[in-house]
Amino acid sequence: MEMVPLAPNCGVEIKGVSLAQAEGETLDAIRQAIYTHGVALFRGQEDFTPEAHIAFARRWGGIDINNYFPLTDDHPEIAVVRKRADQVTNIGGGWHTDHSYDQVPAMGSILVARTLPPTGGDTLWAHMGAAYDALPDDLKREIEGLEAYHTADHIYEEGGLYAKTDMGGDLRGQGLKTGATHPVVIRHPQTGRRLLYVNSAFTVNIVGRSREESLPLLQQLYAAATAADNTCRVAWEPGAVAIWDNRTTWHYAMNDYQGHAREMHRITLTGEPLAA
Ligand code: SIN
Repeated sequence: MEMVPLAPNCGVEIKGVSLAQAEGETLDAIRQAIYTHGVALFRGQEDFTPEAHIAFARRWGGIDINNYFPLTDDHPEIAVVRKRADQVTNIGGGWHTDHSYDQVPAMGSILVARTLPPTGGDTLWAHMGAAYDALPDDLKREIEGLEAYHTADHIYEEGGLYAKTDMGGDLRGQGLKTGATHPVVIRHPQTGRRLLYVNSAFTVNIVGRSREESLPLLQQLYAAATAADNTCRVAWEPGAVAIWDNRTTWHYAMNDYQGHAREMHRITLTGEPLAA
């Protein structure tokens, strides 16, 4: 197994591994790399069928079925991240981390390229350990001990952000209510590294402050989070798979392939409660 960083502070490409076969010490090494680098890219995984995808996720741990995305007909564990050629809006086309609106957020996701546009459709990640480390000391002091409230309702509910787009009709779960409170800075459950844990999609306010009072601080943190030094980018190709840690990273699906279809299969991995 060979590990090559994707960028100085975010992401790693892992070579010489078959995810369909990975278990035991190989799986442990993959896990550790993802906890540390935030996201790992694996190319040439042509045998990573939907069945292999599910089996790998079960070997990793539990599967958290996403409440909103369409599911594949044959495999309810797999969410479909699809943009048809005639759709304008994509799923995940803004910086976010998955499931932060759950009190026990999903640990991460395994994303498999199934249909790709001729060009474009890359995914970007930003490393929240690098983002936290780079904050000025006075900002670190200001956010110490703060908690923030997260929800997905404004995005997925009837009349919410996605419902207003040409993708709204494809989604499930519009009647669900979500809400969770997490520390603004968490410690990674496995590595202990301090990570910035607010995001521009699902974080609504700092606990004890209104949305309006919270926004100046949140926006300062969001701008710091996505500084180019914290990010990496994957240009997808057939057979590529990315596995990321939702605590360590944010991600962003580029929407720069209008007129072409893109379809990815995503399994979301069960996480654990988060603490400062
Ligand atoms: C997502 O999980 O937000 C989608 C990522 C992608 O389609 O690249």
